[in-house]
Amino acid sequence: MAGRLADYFRIGFYSVVQQSTSQTQAIMKHLLLSCTCLLLCAVVTPVTADILREAEALLSWKASLDGADESLSSWSLANSSGVCHWMHISCNSARSTIVNLNISGASLNGTLDKFDFSAFPNLNKLILFQNGLHGNIPEGIGDLTSLARLRISSNWYVTGTIPRGIGRLKQLTELQLGGLGLDGATLPEEIGNLTSLTKIALYSINLTGSIPLTFGRLKKLRLLNLRNNSLTGRIPLEIGNMTELHRMDLTRNYLHGQIPGTFSRLVKLNGLLLSENQLGGDVILELGNSSRLSYINIAKNSFSGVFPPSICAGGALVTVLAAYNGFTSLRSLTFQNCTTLEHIDFTENKIVADLMACFGKPPEQLRGLTVSNNHLYGTLLTDDGEVFLCNSTRLSLLDLSNNALNGDLSNSKCLWNMRHLEFMDLSSNSLSGVVPFLATPNRNLQSLHLANNHFSGAFPLVLKKSKRLITLDLGGNNFSGGIPSWISKSLPELRFLLLSSNMFDGIIPSQILQFRQLQILDLSKNKFTGRIPSNFGNFTGMIQEQKNGNGTYCYLPAEQLRIVLKNEGYLYNFTISFIVGT
Ligand SMILES: *[C@@H]1O[C@H](CO)[C@@H](O)[C@H](O)[C@H]1NC(C)=O
Ligand SMILES: *[C@@H]1O[C@H](CO)[C@@H](O)[C@H](O)[C@H]1NC(C)=O
Ligand SMILES: *[C@@H]1O[C@H](CO)[C@@H](O)[C@H](O)[C@H]1NC(C)=O
Ligand SMILES: *[C@@H]1O[C@H](CO)[C@@H](O)[C@H](O)[C@H]1NC(C)=O
Ligand SMILES: *[C@@H]1O[C@H](CO)[C@@H](O)[C@H](O)[C@H]1NC(C)=O
Ligand SMILES: *[C@@H]1O[C@H](CO)[C@@H](O)[C@H](O)[C@H]1NC(C)=O
Ligand SMILES: *[C@@H]1O[C@H](CO)[C@@H](O)[C@H](O)[C@H]1NC(C)=O
Repeated sequence: MAGRLADYFRIGFYSVVQQSTSQTQAIMKHLLLSCTCLLLCAVVTPVTADILREAEALLSWKASLDGADESLSSWSLANSSGVCHWMHISCNSARSTIVNLNISGASLNGTLDKFDFSAFPNLNKLILFQNGLHGNIPEGIGDLTSLARLRISSNWYVTGTIPRGIGRLKQLTELQLGGLGLDGATLPEEIGNLTSLTKIALYSINLTGSIPLTFGRLKKLRLLNLRNNSLTGRIPLEIGNMTELHRMDLTRNYLHGQIPGTFSRLVKLNGLLLSENQLGGDVILELGNSSRLSYINIAKNSFSGVFPPSICAGGALVTVLAAYNGFTSLRSLTFQNCTTLEHIDFTENKIVADLMACFGKPPEQLRGLTVSNNHLYGTLLTDDGEVFLCNSTRLSLLDLSNNALNGDLSNSKCLWNMRHLEFMDLSSNSLSGVVPFLATPNRNLQSLHLANNHFSGAFPLVLKKSKRLITLDLGGNNFSGGIPSWISKSLPELRFLLLSSNMFDGIIPSQILQFRQLQILDLSKNKFTGRIPSNFGNFTGMIQEQKNGNGTYCYLPAEQLRIVLKNEGYLYNFTISFIVGT
């Protein structure tokens, strides 16, 4: 092999045939030393033993593979352009050694067992991203003593563990082994020896065990991503030593205990992602100290107590996601200085608080406010009868359902008039009032839930221009009057129309059957009179009708349409559900 390779690297006018590697080296030395003419030097390619050995190692490894895409066919002695021109390879400027090997998305099928890592003492970057490698990552990988970047992510059949040999890669700055099929691998303590590391991305590789305390030595680390593993134990105090850390992602593990107080030293932290763990206790007050912290996701843990009132002290917070925890309180003015805040989510905690008092002036760029399933009390109304969110004109998601909020919203123009609002759920509170008529209705609204409150008055005319509305739930209120005949024409996208348990009366307009997308229509427990519209079920032609107890079930097999009609004297109670595709 060495002889053929040497042949392949013909130098100047010399044709080196059938030489051993050391002989080639000797010839090379002689050539270079005897070269006095600059012009000659320029045409001589200084082939060293390094690149010969590297090419040889690559070809042996290629021969061991079960498959690869076309790009690896350039790895061939027949290719006269030389190793440095092979696909996926970069050499140093002298073309004497390979410095980068980047084989991404090349459908590599095979193992790394025959990869002679020791042949690449100068390799700076090894990237084998998104291939079909299987087998283990060999211990020998530690022989890549110049390696700065290692990325073997998205090779789902790679099994085994993370080799301790990784700890020998003293130059390593980026370690990326995400999306592998490792079985019960742990984080080797030796990673703590790699003090040049700036980036660790070891996500979705089924890591078990705990985060080693030696990680505290990684003082240059900027990114720590251990997302989606099965790590247990506490978050080590030592992580507070990573004072360069910008982003920490420990999402979806089994970590327990509290957020260490040493986190207050992470003053460069920009994103903190700890959701879906078993963390608990109080969240340290200093969490908001970092002037760069913009994203916090601590949802789906067991945090409790008062949410840190100084969370916006740093002045950069954009997103705080704290849903599904056991927080019991939000102090008044918690969000006072949160001028940059856009997304707030406290779904399903145990928060007892006056929501309006938590804000001073709500942030103008607020886009999402979700505090559903808590114990919020008080009103949403300021002294002038408007909701306190009027200045948050970019609001697109508002979910305050399942709380104890009260107040008459009749005079709030802005609430029904927020141009960007797409989803509003105020259901299951004690809110009241009529939905006023407005000159500039919301055209972006897709979902409006007002169920189980004390709203009254006519069917909201304001919805007439909400052409994108998909869900309308007005159930369990005191709405009255008739259902307007414009409903099907004006709301062509409507799929869920829930009007039960109100005081709607009059005849059911035949237009109600003209929705193209309707999946559930619930008109039960109202005061409708007259007959069921005669074109009922004429979407497609009703072909079968069955009597069953006190109801009538009509089937349209084509769409598995089910209609339940319950006839009680002159008043009809309707529950009509369309179940499409079973
Ligand atoms: C890899 O090669 C083996 C042996 O030829 C074959 O059985 C297997 O299906 C290949 N895997 C993929 C993902 O192509
Ligand atoms: C030789 O390698 C170059 C660069 O990788 C490639 O473009 C070319 O197609 C290869 N030629 C052969 C015959 O494989
Ligand atoms: C590397 O780390 C291990 C375990 O943390 C330690 O025992 C060893 O001394 C370290 N080696 C070097 C060369 O730093
Ligand atoms: C890391 O942090 C721990 C605990 O906060 C501290 O005791 C230790 O001295 C630090 N280690 C290094 C190497 O900085
Ligand atoms: C962090 O914030 C707390 C309270 O918000 C403050 O008392 C403390 O001085 C701050 N610490 C640092 C290191 O800035
Ligand atoms: C908001 O900022 C003001 C002025 O700096 C300060 O007095 C107040 O304590 C801050 N509020 C909170 C909750 O951090
Ligand atoms: C419902 O509204 C009617 C007027 O439309 C009113 O007379 C009645 O008291 C209201 N009922 C409740 C429970 O609010």
